[in-house]
Amino acid sequence: MYSFASLQLVRDVIMRIDIITVVPDLLKSPFEASIMQRSIEKGLVQVHFHNLRDYTTDNYKQVDDYQFGGGAGMVMMIEPIDKCITKLKSEREYDEIIYMTPDGETLTQNIANQISLQGNIIILCGHYKGVDQRVRDHFITREISIGDYVLSGGELGALILCDAIIRLIPGVLGNETSALTDSFQDNLLAPPIYTRPAEYKGWKVPEVLTSGNFPKIEQWREEQAYLRTKQRRPDLLEE
Ligand code: ADE
Repeated sequence: MYSFASLQLVRDVIMRIDIITVVPDLLKSPFEASIMQRSIEKGLVQVHFHNLRDYTTDNYKQVDDYQFGGGAGMVMMIEPIDKCITKLKSEREYDEIIYMTPDGETLTQNIANQISLQGNIIILCGHYKGVDQRVRDHFITREISIGDYVLSGGELGALILCDAIIRLIPGVLGNETSALTDSFQDNLLAPPIYTRPAEYKGWKVPEVLTSGNFPKIEQWREEQAYLRTKQRRPDLLEE
């Protein structure tokens, strides 16, 4: 029987992430520290890893094969992926089935915001040359890249995606670290930040920040955010 506390816990889980991978060991430790760990402990997120090799009937647990038509590099086979995704979908509904791939849409804060609003998602990590195209055609609802470079697999990309979305889930960050003031929210980079001491080796913190005049501080931050964005990422201002 469920205790009230465990029912609360179940009710409070607002996001479930299932990650399908051939190297689950690559994924675990980032969820065992810092903000991602706390989000799981608070019951706001559940993360489940699925080893694709558990879904193959092959004696050698092989999940990849040569490309039809020839060419370098192995391709992840459709059958184990189908079995894993079909099993998960028989247990609950999913809002998004994401494939991590360098030819997907490039991850932005805007995409992270959108995905953080979802309930249940699956993230499929590609490996080798990638997955059989039929997986993408028939199971995947969104394809995401973390940048224009090629990694050995989708796992590190999946971790980056998870970190970016988990910190946006209400209750994960405290007020003092609110994601609303992050760079890229509002298409602006964050302004410079300082902490004690107010003077170090003669290097002073801008006076306005220690003035206690909060409207002025806010105005300074807005100006600095704009200036920084104009200098470093003028493309953001054009969007
Ligand atoms: N897998 C390999 N390279 C990748 C990238 N840049 N983004 C997401 N997944 C990947």
